Amino acid sequence: MKKYFIYTYGCQMNVHETEKLAGILEEKGYSKAENATDADIIVFNTCCIRESAEQKILGNIGAIKPIKKAKKDLIVAVCGCMAQQKDMAATLRKKFPFINIVFGANNIEYFGEYLDTYLSQRKFLNKVEADKQYSENIASVSCVRDNALYAYVNIMYGCNNFCTYCIVPYVRGREKSRAPEAIYQEVKNLLAMGYKVITLLGQNVNSYGLDGNTDGTNFAKLLETIANFDGDFELRFMTSHPKDLSDEVIEVMAKCPKISKTLHLPVQAGSNKTLKAMNRSYTKEAYLNLIEKIREKMPEITLSTDIIVGFPGETDEDYQQTVDLIKQVRYHNAFIFMYSKRKGTIAEKMENQVPIAVKRERIHNLLEIQHEISEQLFKEMIGKTIRVLLDTENTKEYIGKAQCGKVVKIAKEKPLKVGNFYDIDIIEYNKGNLIGRIN
Ligand code: 5AD
Ligand code: SF4
Repeated sequence: MKKYFIYTYGCQMNVHETEKLAGILEEKGYSKAENATDADIIVFNTCCIRESAEQKILGNIGAIKPIKKAKKDLIVAVCGCMAQQKDMAATLRKKFPFINIVFGANNIEYFGEYLDTYLSQRKFLNKVEADKQYSENIASVSCVRDNALYAYVNIMYGCNNFCTYCIVPYVRGREKSRAPEAIYQEVKNLLAMGYKVITLLGQNVNSYGLDGNTDGTNFAKLLETIANFDGDFELRFMTSHPKDLSDEVIEVMAKCPKISKTLHLPVQAGSNKTLKAMNRSYTKEAYLNLIEKIREKMPEITLSTDIIVGFPGETDEDYQQTVDLIKQVRYHNAFIFMYSKRKGTIAEKMENQVPIAVKRERIHNLLEIQHEISEQLFKEMIGKTIRVLLDTENTKEYIGKAQCGKVVKIAKEKPLKVGNFYDIDIIEYNKGNLIGRIN
């Protein structure tokens, strides 16, 4: 039997699209290889959000050269966001002449056809289409899901926000919502198959339905409908843009017990001047008011965020406001990045680019501050009882995850069942893990 190996980079959207690529390959009779060396086809599902991602991918593509040398029939395909960029297919082909197929972020569903064409012609295929928009066909591709308990469900594709640093709207196209009925059916099927945590995916889930592609269903309505489905499961979603997180969504989150009390709410920066230059459409004050409102309705909520340091023009004072903001909000988790210049974005042309040494110093400092905040918050969980899904076990312990994604370890004192939720008393915080006991 022929085998495939897929390298995946980037966000949850890509992780989920890899499940679709795997579905297409398995329908064609391929099975999953344990490692790239054993594969007959290797796919790179790429990301281009930052230059560091691209460098890593280029390094990894280069590293398979010996495999291709040893196995002449090996097929190498590169797809996803990095491949979608203007002129990238030609650049990749020039750099790595052994690449056979290149296709873009919104062409995933045609991968099977590309493969057939390549197999019959054995000629390099460039299937990247400029400005390709998402089409409903992607939803009908069956997935080979990586995990039996946690499932991703796309509710929309693309992004309309054009934050000035971000390449996503250029490679993923405009926002397009999936029909609610199709989403409901997919979630129901997953629940029937035993999935326990459903995560709804979109670049900006709060604008679901605002493109007029649904029957009027907005994100709050979609969430509420799914949260009322039968079964013991939890519902999560990402990513929320602070400018679009409505009171209605907060109400629904607060009142529906099946919606996880966790929220990823990227703030990006703490200075109003930087937020404006980023085109984020909110001020620090508006963001902090939103957090206050959320905490008023859901005091137990765990929050996470994304932050960029060293955006063009960011002064020490601007940066200090980001420091102040994270200290004020106290996120359980923050993903902190150094600004990376992306070709074709508005910020690429901005003057006052921040020197790399300054960016390094800021990220180092901010990571340290955030680490301390996270440690304190997790220590504050000692003595509390939280709901945990057990997802694995070893001889000594059950291992699960809290709603915020934090690993929780429970000594095997009495028999529990992996795949079930339990109320767990947190008794310790040790080496980055919560230690619990069954309530
Ligand atoms: N440089 C650094 N970080 C970026 N992000 C998006 N574009 C860039 C960029 N050019 C970050 C943002 C976003 C997260 C997914 O990636 O913080 O929320
Ligand atoms: Fe990028 Fe902004 Fe869209 Fe998020 S909301 S994908 S940061 S443009």
